[in-house]
Amino acid sequence: MRYVGVLMGVGILACWLGVLEGQGKFSWMWYDHFDEIDDHMRTVNADNCQSKSREELVLRADTVSQLPVYNQQLDRIWYPNRTALIHLHHMALNRAFFYSYILQKMNDSQSFYIQPNWLYMYMSAAADVNANPYGINGSAFYFDKDCHYPNWYETVPFNNTLPLFGPKAWRHDDYQDQDNYLREPTRQAVMVADLGAGRGMNYTHSQFKMNPWYTKWLPDLRGDLDSLMKFTYNIGIKYSNVTGKFINDDFVASPFFGPSSPSALTKDERMLPVMFTQPYFDCGRSNKWIVSAVSPVVDYMPRYSNWTHLRRQR
Ligand SMILES: *[C@@H]1O[C@H](CO)[C@@H](O)[C@H](O)[C@H]1NC(C)=O
Ligand SMILES: *[C@@H]1O[C@H](CO)[C@@H](O)[C@H](O)[C@H]1NC(C)=O
Ligand SMILES: *[C@@H]1O[C@H](CO)[C@@H](O)[C@H](O)[C@H]1NC(C)=O
Ligand SMILES: *[C@@H]1O[C@H](CO)[C@@H](O)[C@H](O)[C@H]1NC(C)=O
Ligand SMILES: *[C@@H]1O[C@H](CO)[C@@H](O)[C@H](O)[C@H]1NC(C)=O
Ligand SMILES: *[C@@H]1O[C@H](CO)[C@@H](O)[C@H](O)[C@H]1NC(C)=O
Ligand SMILES: *[C@@H]1O[C@H](CO)[C@@H](O)[C@H](O)[C@H]1NC(C)=O
Repeated sequence: MRYVGVLMGVGILACWLGVLEGQGKFSWMWYDHFDEIDDHMRTVNADNCQSKSREELVLRADTVSQLPVYNQQLDRIWYPNRTALIHLHHMALNRAFFYSYILQKMNDSQSFYIQPNWLYMYMSAAADVNANPYGINGSAFYFDKDCHYPNWYETVPFNNTLPLFGPKAWRHDDYQDQDNYLREPTRQAVMVADLGAGRGMNYTHSQFKMNPWYTKWLPDLRGDLDSLMKFTYNIGIKYSNVTGKFINDDFVASPFFGPSSPSALTKDERMLPVMFTQPYFDCGRSNKWIVSAVSPVVDYMPRYSNWTHLRRQR
């Protein structure tokens, strides 16, 4: 009985919207989920997104189907049209591994000045976009509140943090640039900016509308997963300071903590190293509907203490 009631409810709603919207593409088509999503997407644009509510800037989580799952990649059939999503998943994981490694490697006061600085992060984010002309249109690295130790900001003393820092790159349409005489987008122009700079840009704040990626991992308020295994990875590197010659002929192992690596049996999706956001409107930046793959970076926090404190995803 209840099932019938629900069906009727949907039917009535559909008719009502159908009258308002002139139905689907053809008059005999029902107003369906596609039209619903399409209308939602059309109501938001670069000019009006500032005044929209948070709910209006996201689409339903099931809008994009068959999102890649880290520990099911080998035992599920993935459609060929998921290739770009799987690549996106791996790129997020790749960057998370790299930053976890390099930030933990550069962990003493001598290496403070050779840590990735703002320019490095800007270029790295731009490279993610430029290296993937057909798959990825944006890349960013966000530090949680008071987690970035700037080695590039001379007025901030050693061992002090910046409140927020979020270098974000997105593909820019350069068809109007002066040197682009063909007047066609070249897919070679990228805009990069610090998302945390300026008033009203506190991306950790619950009122900030463009950060569905934030709540996937932070804030870490609950302790129920604190016994989650800390995943240690070990890589061997042969260092060289002269062309064609290694300092040591043996691999020098350096262990580091990185994103989690759950077994195929793990069902709890909080254990996954990469999560996907709902589609959201990237207001004021790329001004497009986007889906983000998000992966956590593990770092010493606080740094430069005589005790090893790790800060990881929840
Ligand atoms: C992806 O491919 C599957 C199988 O061919 C198809 O059912 C599905 O509609 C496709 N999805 C999209 C978004 O094109
Ligand atoms: C820095 O990391 C290395 C391993 O990567 C470790 O041996 C060393 O103790 C760490 N130093 C500090 C100051 O934490
Ligand atoms: C990336 O941006 C280009 C140019 O704006 C667009 O043609 C393409 O569809 C976008 N790709 C994705 C995966 O969003
Ligand atoms: C950002 O918002 C968070 C959460 O409300 C708050 O704790 C933090 O102090 C704010 N940071 C800045 C720089 O305003
Ligand atoms: C390379 O490293 C080795 C071992 O640390 C050192 O003896 C040598 O002087 C270095 N060579 C150069 C060119 O810096
Ligand atoms: C850096 O700050 C942390 C946290 O305040 C402190 O524990 C540590 O001793 C400081 N390290 C140095 C080298 O000043
Ligand atoms: C850490 O330990 C070293 C060597 O034991 C000591 O010289 C230094 O003062 C200590 N630093 C802090 C911040 O306690």
